[in-house]
Amino acid sequence: MKNLIILLTLVFVTPLIAQDLDTELRALLKTHSIEPLKKERDLTSPLFDLGHRLFVDNRLSGNNNISCRDCHHPMLGTSDSLPLPIGEGGEGIGTNRRMGTGAVIPRNAPHLFNSGLSNKEVSFWDGRVSYDPLTKTFQTPEPAINGANPTRPEIAKALSSALAAQAMFPPLSHEEMRGQPGSNEIADAKTNIEAWDLLTERITDDQVYMDLFKKAIPGISKDKINFGHIGEALAHFQANRFAVTNTPFDKYLAGDNSAMSDAAKRGAILFYTKAKCVECHSGNNFTDNKFHNIAIPQVGPGKEADGNDKGLYAVTGKEEDLYKFKTPGLRNVSKSAPYGHSGSLKTLLRVVQHYQMPMRSNHHYEGGYRNLPYALEVDWKNMNDRLRRLDPLVPRMGLPLDGMEMQDIVTFMEEGLTQQGM
Ligand code: HEC
Ligand code: HEC
Repeated sequence: MKNLIILLTLVFVTPLIAQDLDTELRALLKTHSIEPLKKERDLTSPLFDLGHRLFVDNRLSGNNNISCRDCHHPMLGTSDSLPLPIGEGGEGIGTNRRMGTGAVIPRNAPHLFNSGLSNKEVSFWDGRVSYDPLTKTFQTPEPAINGANPTRPEIAKALSSALAAQAMFPPLSHEEMRGQPGSNEIADAKTNIEAWDLLTERITDDQVYMDLFKKAIPGISKDKINFGHIGEALAHFQANRFAVTNTPFDKYLAGDNSAMSDAAKRGAILFYTKAKCVECHSGNNFTDNKFHNIAIPQVGPGKEADGNDKGLYAVTGKEEDLYKFKTPGLRNVSKSAPYGHSGSLKTLLRVVQHYQMPMRSNHHYEGGYRNLPYALEVDWKNMNDRLRRLDPLVPRMGLPLDGMEMQDIVTFMEEGLTQQGM
């Protein structure tokens, strides 16, 4: 008898439950207007080849010792597996990277998945590079390319997104790529523009690059190429190479109910309801492209002398922007641990636990990292200020999620939002 009940349950009830999940999830996706992403990608054009070559080329660093790929490696989820990267002068890749003569960079290297979407108008954790597509103007740390009347209009004109403008800044950072003053002529350049010009010359002195530039930008000549063209090519490569549009969730969106497991579906339903994730990770690319203070533990050297990092506030100077950082997109996020702007959260489960109980996540912070190449100090001093200003969309006293529900949300990200073989 007992076996018969189990059998009947399996045959009749299980498909019903599964069907209920689909009905509920599809209704939620409709309510939130979630639609499939466009799938066209350019992986073959000369501009793509040019961007690819630049992305992996050490010559964009002053001392020829680091490339974009060292911190955004495709094998490491377009990041570097470390909470915080080690800049130029460091040795090795990923968790094998050692300090050498390098410095610890104060923020986590973000993943670049779907950066063509999430970085179109605003880039960096604190949005210090932005682009207004209506007026076709930029705001960046370099005034010469900013606003309606830039003093170097030919550079601004070569750029068509925040992602492209962003790419011009890692090579200017002495710690990330440029090298310390005295170590090379680019590090010693008096202005950003001079550093860009010297780097451009390095690249265009190479005939292989000149041939690619001529194919990618018809009619261009060596004296007309500036660092904006290099930024634009890097952006084109990243936007296409790291476009993620074929996850199980995408197949599900296209109509295939069998593309995701029940656990992932339950996680997705929680994501759009009780767990409130959709309040910020909204839209087709799981980000509102806005800034929020979710009060993750602050670790590492920080952007300020006392280990603090005030996020968007450092760009706008507005008190309401204290500790706000940009909402990251979530496709393939399972590949780019650890998480958050300071890299303080080691796993996706740890991220969800943080939202479930932000106070505990901070007060009892334990990184859980082993064998890191550097010590990871915790900024206890500003912790309460950070928590006090927590975004009201994240309940201070936490979310009513049990262990099983948190695991389902993780499964949604790990399984549903991950494209194999990227
Ligand atoms: C030393 C490590 C390192 C190197 C080298 C490096 N990056 Fe990054 N990258 C980072 C860090 C750290 C951030 C976040 C900094 C911040 O937001 O303040 C970042 C941010 C970005 C972002 C913004 C992503 C987002 O979602 O806002 C893009 C795009 C990017 N890098 C592309 C590049 C490119 C292109 C290059 C090569 C020209 C490069 N990076 C070189 C560490 C590095
Ligand atoms: C109030 C807006 C908001 C809500 C609600 C929210 N997030 Fe976030 N999320 C962010 C922001 C902003 C960051 C980056 C913050 C930082 O690094 O300081 C982030 C970071 C993350 C990260 C790390 C991504 C990375 O690349 O490092 C994951 C994963 C994540 N959120 C998942 C979730 C899940 C799951 C939920 C629901 C339980 C959720 N978020 C709810 C805004 C939000």
